Amino acid sequence: MRYPAGWLDDLRARADIVSIVSEYVPLKQKGRSFWGLCPFHGEKTASFKVDPERGFYYCFGCKAGGNVFDFIMAMERMEFREAVRYLADKLHMPVPEETDGAADAQRRTLRESILRLNREAALLYHKLLYAPEGRHALEYLHGRGLDDRVIRLFGLGASGEQWDTLTRTLREQGADDALLVQAGLTVRKQERAFDMFRNRAMFPIIDARGNVLGFGGRALGDVQPKYLNTADTPAFNKRWNVYAANLLRKCRNLARVLLVEGYMDVVSLVSCGVEGVAATLGTSLTPEQAKLLSRYAPEIWVAYDGDAAGQNAILRALDIFEEAQIPVRVLVIPDGQDPDEFIRAQGKEAFEALKPLSAAAYRMARAKDGLDLSEEEGRTKYAMACAAILRGVKQPVEQENLLKRLMVETGYSREVLVQQIGLSSAARPAGRTRQAAVRPPERFEPQGRLRAERTLLELLCFGFVPEGTLSADTFSDEDHRFLAQELLHGRKPEELLLSLEDGPRRSLLLEAMANEPKVVNDEALRMIAECVETLRRDWIEKRIASLQANMSGASSEEKDVALREIMKLTNEKKSLGPGRKE
Ligand code: UTP
Ligand code: MN
Repeated sequence: MRYPAGWLDDLRARADIVSIVSEYVPLKQKGRSFWGLCPFHGEKTASFKVDPERGFYYCFGCKAGGNVFDFIMAMERMEFREAVRYLADKLHMPVPEETDGAADAQRRTLRESILRLNREAALLYHKLLYAPEGRHALEYLHGRGLDDRVIRLFGLGASGEQWDTLTRTLREQGADDALLVQAGLTVRKQERAFDMFRNRAMFPIIDARGNVLGFGGRALGDVQPKYLNTADTPAFNKRWNVYAANLLRKCRNLARVLLVEGYMDVVSLVSCGVEGVAATLGTSLTPEQAKLLSRYAPEIWVAYDGDAAGQNAILRALDIFEEAQIPVRVLVIPDGQDPDEFIRAQGKEAFEALKPLSAAAYRMARAKDGLDLSEEEGRTKYAMACAAILRGVKQPVEQENLLKRLMVETGYSREVLVQQIGLSSAARPAGRTRQAAVRPPERFEPQGRLRAERTLLELLCFGFVPEGTLSADTFSDEDHRFLAQELLHGRKPEELLLSLEDGPRRSLLLEAMANEPKVVNDEALRMIAECVETLRRDWIEKRIASLQANMSGASSEEKDVALREIMKLTNEKKSLGPGRKE
């Protein structure tokens, strides 16, 4: 599925990046570009630049950058298609693939109608909470330690005690019965229509864009089921959503997302001042939910209930996160409590003092369950189980720490355990961490050469390189060479940027695009010549070094040839002059 290229270009051209970014970051104009405080890392002086001509932004501090789509994706934690749609909505441009295809359009209007109905329902439930009919629900929520501020933040509500308060009210507002049923708000039995949720405290499920997808309803007493949830509807698929995504979206610079089991856990933690909490929707974690959560922070901490069911669900969740290569840790809640019970009893400080375990450390702790380590048999079984776990740990340092612990716990020697780890078939592909697209460290590279290549790229980006003065072969760094090639072929940098995936090439291009070289036109030629000389000198030095290194085992004839080349190169280098010291 692709958007027509012309349409996407059109959208990008119409989206004025300065006004879009200004909605999030105050910008000040300086010359041709705009500057502000980077929204992606904390800073006090403005190093965040927006270039309206080329339609991109770049932070000189944290190196974040991209075009208007990248900006929306980063700020709103959206996928590319979502960002495209978001911008298209904003600019009132119909999204092509949705306007053709009548079935698609129909599905979309059904979804929208259900969402509108859900919103009305949520408003009514919230209103009822403060009406006589919601008295019990309000007492219940207050009784669980929630104040009106949190109730408003989560939009909590009450479903009425009568059979059809909601159905009747929404009908009066013109809602269609069939739609009410499709939204999961109304149930029809024989000829009668009555409310799906009655006499419950209501938790609206709101996605990152503010849509009310459905509800969880908590019984006020010991009625079963304890929680009643909206079933999947044309507007709601539990597999793809989490509870409190709307609040997650607003958190900036989260170090971790805390994943808990229950609605109440989320509300309770947030009400105690813990940020970045979400829950699954009454089902076990899906890979889609894992991926969704990973957008909001670099790692996820699983903080399920301390009871046996919760602890077993953790093992399954770990598998899912690791399968998706999402960094994950475990926060064990002591005494079999759930996060809500713990924080109510012990307070926020005690909760935040809980230390997360790595996935492997947690699995090792669990491998002890049911084993008696004071008996040899228990120790043997434990050692074998842990060896399988350790085999999956890819970080040598972590493996070493856990291995040491295992030696102490079991009394086996390092040699034996290492051997056992080698024998055990990995239980699972554990411990993989996400590989960020980072360039290898540059410390060991000659600064002069890299600097010269970058300067040439900057000159290329800003159109200072006349045709025929430079060849891509001049560049020895493969990524530099690739970019130079494209730019020399007349590709505009902002277009090239669109075609590059996240990675070193993209970062390099962004950096070059952001660093406008300070030259007046006729100075450019001299700069180009200087850079090319630096590169040539560097090449000569390397060549000489390699010729000298090969000299020892060579025949006298070969030595002769090599010496002659070295002489020639030395002369050439002299003619280049000493070069500038960096
Ligand atoms: P819990 O039983 O752990 O509930 O279920 P809780 O969050 O501690 O709730 P309180 O504190 O008793 O109010 C965890 C989650 O499992 C789902 C709900 O999503 C709930 O938040 N669940 C539980 C249901 O969907 N139905 C149920 O009957 C029970
Ligand atoms: Mn609970």
